[in-house]
Amino acid sequence: MIISIKPWLEKADQPHHALLHSQSREILTGSAEKGSGGENPKIKKQGGVIQMAQKQDFYHESVLAQQVLDAMQPVRGKQLFDGTLGGGGHSEMFLERGAHVIACDQDSEALEYAGRRLERFGDCFLPVKGNFVDMDLILRNLGIDLVDGILLDLGVSSRQLDQAERGFSFRKDGPLDMRMDSDSVVTAKDLVNDLDEAELARIFFELGGERRSRGVAAAIVKARKECEISTTGQLAKIVAKVIPKTGSKNPATKVFQGLRIAVNREMECLESGIKKSLDLLVVGGVLAVITFHSLEDRLVKRFLRRHSAPFLDRPEWPEPKVNADYCLRLPSRKAITPVREELQANPRARSAKLRVAVKL
Ligand SMILES: C[S@@+](CC[C@H](N)C(=O)[O-])C[C@H]1O[C@@H](n2cnc3c(N)ncnc32)[C@H](O)[C@@H]1O
Repeated sequence: MIISIKPWLEKADQPHHALLHSQSREILTGSAEKGSGGENPKIKKQGGVIQMAQKQDFYHESVLAQQVLDAMQPVRGKQLFDGTLGGGGHSEMFLERGAHVIACDQDSEALEYAGRRLERFGDCFLPVKGNFVDMDLILRNLGIDLVDGILLDLGVSSRQLDQAERGFSFRKDGPLDMRMDSDSVVTAKDLVNDLDEAELARIFFELGGERRSRGVAAAIVKARKECEISTTGQLAKIVAKVIPKTGSKNPATKVFQGLRIAVNREMECLESGIKKSLDLLVVGGVLAVITFHSLEDRLVKRFLRRHSAPFLDRPEWPEPKVNADYCLRLPSRKAITPVREELQANPRARSAKLRVAVKL
């Protein structure tokens, strides 16, 4: 069944900052046959860490698997929302333990892959094409008011990074694309060739944390006067002329991160998504967010702190005030990070941080 919702018309003549907010969305629900649950032989436990066995068609290694299970407590009768389905690893763990899962991803390929992988769970698993920023609409369209848990495992999957044609990687030359949702309008190529120098510098500095953002932006503007910048390789070369390579990190890492976050409106989606999650959780329901860089983690940390303080206080106030936003309990104020065994098995987990909150 395919339900389409296109709330914003995409106009080719809109400026790019407006197009960043324009997106086509459709909801696609799976129609798999009912299957059995049961433990998955592909998942094994090593040194206290759950690891997915390498499959021939490797898609993505789920991070912090045991820690996510501990937080979400998936059991029969629970209904969970996975806002970042990806390869379906986390969802699979929930389904195997008897929970029902509604999962979305903005990437059609992820949805197709995970849809096939989790087909055996039949009606217990409902995959939806969409952005988690629309989780309220997605759930309402399915007639669901509240869920017992919401998981957001942010960023891109290994599959997206590894496919040159998706244009996320400076390691493999490909078209400068970086869209997680191939139906959305604005690509990294559009931003790199059309934004003015100051806007480019802002993206590299604020979203990528690149200290030489102005130099990179100036080099891009100069290069694009000669010819359009249309591949990841071209962009990586331009950046390498401005930022010398030190250590093992590619000098283009932060520039690519900033562009990817801008293309996919990642910070806006995260901010709006976690806000909406508060109204969609039952009392006792769990919000679990896995971040991969400090910008995301800071946003989540501040959000959770603001909603978990019963009172607010400021030095200039005569006494503390009741916090009208208070609705969460934090089992731990600290982020949960991978243990050594997981880092050895999956180096891509190195910057993962899990934050958990319980609805009051
Ligand atoms: C890190 S992967 C998730 C991996 C997944 N938890 C697993 O175990 O395989 C992130 C996925 O979330 C998707 N994604 C990122 N931001 C999204 C958003 N705002 N809405 C929907 N999907 C998103 C990406 O397309 C990608 O497939």
